[in-house]
Amino acid sequence: MYKIAVLGGDGTGPEVVREGLKVLEAASHKLGFKYETVEYDWGGDRYLRTGEVLPPSACEELKKHDAVYLGAIGHPDVKPGILEKGILLALRFGLDQYINLRPVKLYPGVETPLKDKGPADIDYVVVRENTEGLYTGAGGVLKKGTPDEVAVQESINTRKGVERCIRYAFEYARKRAKDKKLTLCGKTNVLTYAFDLWERAFYEVANEYTDIKPDYAHVDATTMWMVKNPEWFDVIVTDNMFGDIITDLGAMTQGGMGIAAGGNINPEGVSMFEPIGGSAPKYTGMNVINPLAAIGAMQMLLDTLGETKAADLIDKAIAHVTGTKLKSMGAGRMGFSTTEVGDMVAQFVADA
Ligand code: IPM
Ligand code: MN
Repeated sequence: MYKIAVLGGDGTGPEVVREGLKVLEAASHKLGFKYETVEYDWGGDRYLRTGEVLPPSACEELKKHDAVYLGAIGHPDVKPGILEKGILLALRFGLDQYINLRPVKLYPGVETPLKDKGPADIDYVVVRENTEGLYTGAGGVLKKGTPDEVAVQESINTRKGVERCIRYAFEYARKRAKDKKLTLCGKTNVLTYAFDLWERAFYEVANEYTDIKPDYAHVDATTMWMVKNPEWFDVIVTDNMFGDIITDLGAMTQGGMGIAAGGNINPEGVSMFEPIGGSAPKYTGMNVINPLAAIGAMQMLLDTLGETKAADLIDKAIAHVTGTKLKSMGAGRMGFSTTEVGDMVAQFVADA
């Protein structure tokens, strides 16, 4: 019996999460695994009501579960940073989810802005470090608000943090068994402390994975290849900030935020899965947002729990719906409502 914590969150989060849970239910009926869900109301509305971003027990609470399913965090009436840092980053850090796994996969029938590229070309995975780098909050400000203001935001890279991320990426490239190639995305020509550490750790660990081809690209070059030759990539490993940036680019090449999913993974603990698109407040309650990203996040959740049959089936169901049903991935342009898209995926799973 899996215990799944459900955090619908803000904006359209709860709507898309509902569709993911619909698909989960269909998969459990079909394949016989059992689960229960516990819902938490953490998010912008609760914060505005109570002044608290997360209850102090949040992480301990979530650790009692096998996985966390998250809709979206971000509220138009809350100053940027408060919920992002207070909820999303607090959970990633608090649960030590040191991997942010982001597949960049173009499903059949989905339009990509990349000319002459198709599903065979756009199919790679970014392993983003998720607990260090520029995201730790290290640094500070002096003489704030004066003409002499100084702002320092430091990138923290620990040997342990970097190495465990790289190791995960090598393991992932091995398990994925596509091109058996792992590209380190860095900036060794300028960030000569941080990415020197990354580079040394990368090639040291590479010695233990002789079946995986190690490859290196600077982050700026990576963005060029992601547009020009996405087929070059199999698995990319990178730091937190670069990973954040390049996965939004990747998401656009796979059809946009309506379809891009990600997992915040603690391989030894509790992981959290989310559509990476945000809360899209202007579409809240309209039943127009694309739930496929959230359904993809559920697919990753089940894969991580070891329910690979269910994960494979949901992947096929998504491909069926994109390939034969949806007109577009964009909110309001799918030709179907949010709930109808969820129904179609669930139906495919049930009928399989
Ligand atoms: C993401 C988001 C977050 C990040 C924000 C909301 C803190 O952009 O999941 O990529 O920067 O990691
Ligand atoms: Mn981001």
